[in-house]
Amino acid sequence: GAPQTRTPTGAETGAPATANGQQGAFLTTAQGARLRDTDHSLKAGPRGPVLLQDHHLREKITHFDHERIPERVVHARGAGAHGEFTAYGTAEAVTRAGFLQKGRTTEVFVRFSTVLGSRGSADTVRDTRGFATKFYTDEGTFDLVGNNMPVFFIQDAIKFPDIIHAGKPHPDREIPQAQSAHDTFWDFVSLHTEAQHHTMWNMSDRGIPRSYRTMEGFGVHTFRLVNAAGETVLAKFHWKPKLGVHSLVWEEAQLLSGMDPDFHRRDLYDAIEAGAFPEWELGLQIFPDTPEETFAGIDLLDPTKIVPEELAPVQPVGKLTLNRTPTNFFAETEQVAFHVGHLPPGIDVTNDPLLQGRLFSYVDTQLTRLGGPNFAQIPINRPHAPVNDMLRDGFHQHAVHAGVAPYRPNSLDGGNPFPAGDDDHPFVDVPVQVAQAPKVRANPASFDDHFSQARLFWLSMSPVEREHIIRAYTFELGKCYHQAIKERQLQCLASIDPVLCAQVATGLGLPAPEPTVPVADVAPSPALSQVGRQWPAD
Ligand code: HEM
Repeated sequence: GAPQTRTPTGAETGAPATANGQQGAFLTTAQGARLRDTDHSLKAGPRGPVLLQDHHLREKITHFDHERIPERVVHARGAGAHGEFTAYGTAEAVTRAGFLQKGRTTEVFVRFSTVLGSRGSADTVRDTRGFATKFYTDEGTFDLVGNNMPVFFIQDAIKFPDIIHAGKPHPDREIPQAQSAHDTFWDFVSLHTEAQHHTMWNMSDRGIPRSYRTMEGFGVHTFRLVNAAGETVLAKFHWKPKLGVHSLVWEEAQLLSGMDPDFHRRDLYDAIEAGAFPEWELGLQIFPDTPEETFAGIDLLDPTKIVPEELAPVQPVGKLTLNRTPTNFFAETEQVAFHVGHLPPGIDVTNDPLLQGRLFSYVDTQLTRLGGPNFAQIPINRPHAPVNDMLRDGFHQHAVHAGVAPYRPNSLDGGNPFPAGDDDHPFVDVPVQVAQAPKVRANPASFDDHFSQARLFWLSMSPVEREHIIRAYTFELGKCYHQAIKERQLQCLASIDPVLCAQVATGLGLPAPEPTVPVADVAPSPALSQVGRQWPAD
């Protein structure tokens, strides 16, 4: 029942730890034996051979041999920063989450990423960007694992291996999709038309952000919030960058990929070091928690749909400031482990089938990536709340647990550890009604509309943004070897907008298919997506 001891610090071992995680003035082995020489192996005479008994040689090389861990299966390339989140208090009526109470400040770590490239790929490629935030709240960690686009390619997590297999480099040539053979990606999204909305966002300027500092972020899924009275609402999370939303133009993105592949991470670190701390407002779109889980006819469990801000304005609830760069990329940015199931009391999941699959996937992949079940003990992943769990042993266990292995009920350990009472703010699952319906492998009919929101997005673009979208489709589809795939994607565009379809077809030198929707009687809008929200006076 005693609270866990996490990783022993220098103080616990009796030796003061220095800032770089090392102790003492002299070079030692990993066992603390002082070394006289680390530049020469132990040899039988000056001309060798090298002796197997040289433990220092073997320790040094063996550890080096194991310095790398697997990169993330997706979102492998990223950059992170520390910061703080301060709540305005405007969410108090809808959630009892302590970190959203007025004036509360919570430490955070944010990792931005591309999705498809490997760890060494370029920052400015056309791709979705990850925007994952770890809030170290005193009620347990909250991870908001979002993207810079508000929708996703698939409605059901069972399709995730498919979309990623279609998008990652070809197994034979290992040539990234972003630079060469595009057939598998376009094959998938043209056959699996629920991907068309997200694909449109990727082909827009959102796919090539100017900076992490000028990206919006979205939790994508609808979550369920619970207030102190136990009342619930449905909500979507939004990050709004203080600098507004800005993108590169395609030619800049291409040049930067060659001239400075680290452009985005450099920009993030340089801004923070210069004291120009990046800031975002966290906002909520809030919907009544009705049995249908819809709003304005939109199924809130469908992650390929947005709810337009005109129908449900984003209400600011707090401010994020990134003010500290990591000390060690590996220890922090590489080892951080986010999970959509890390939720504090007051925030709960919904039955969005994409979210439900994610709840399984993250810890599963981290068991391999971070070498076993104890990665929550890695410094960057440690909660800033007291931890008294029932988890024991396993690879890389750093805690020295006292007493009996925990089990409940017990009479030997006085019944420890105890579940919290209601007054102690426990996490309580919302007792949502489960449908009385047969088990099926199927989507609800309300998930069937795959094109109208892609059309909405296209029609909301300014003339110059439309031009960029047309050019992006033309460039990317132009990389496909298979004409049938280009033709099938043009068919999808014919279901989105005839003007877009005709322009891309012209660019590809192919006939435009018959449109299935009329030409819209809507003038292109001004550059709405470039207009930042008016911030309260600083
Ligand atoms: C990683 C976002 C859907 C599996 C990530 C990361 C982000 C993210 C931001 C990077 C986290 C980091 O920086 O460490 C999203 C969003 C999704 C989505 C917004 C849809 C709304 C899915 C689905 C699956 C999945 C459906 C699987 C069924 C993974 C895996 C990782 C990952 C395995 C690597 C995690 C790690 O190695 O730590 N995702 N993702 N994601 N995602 Fe997703």
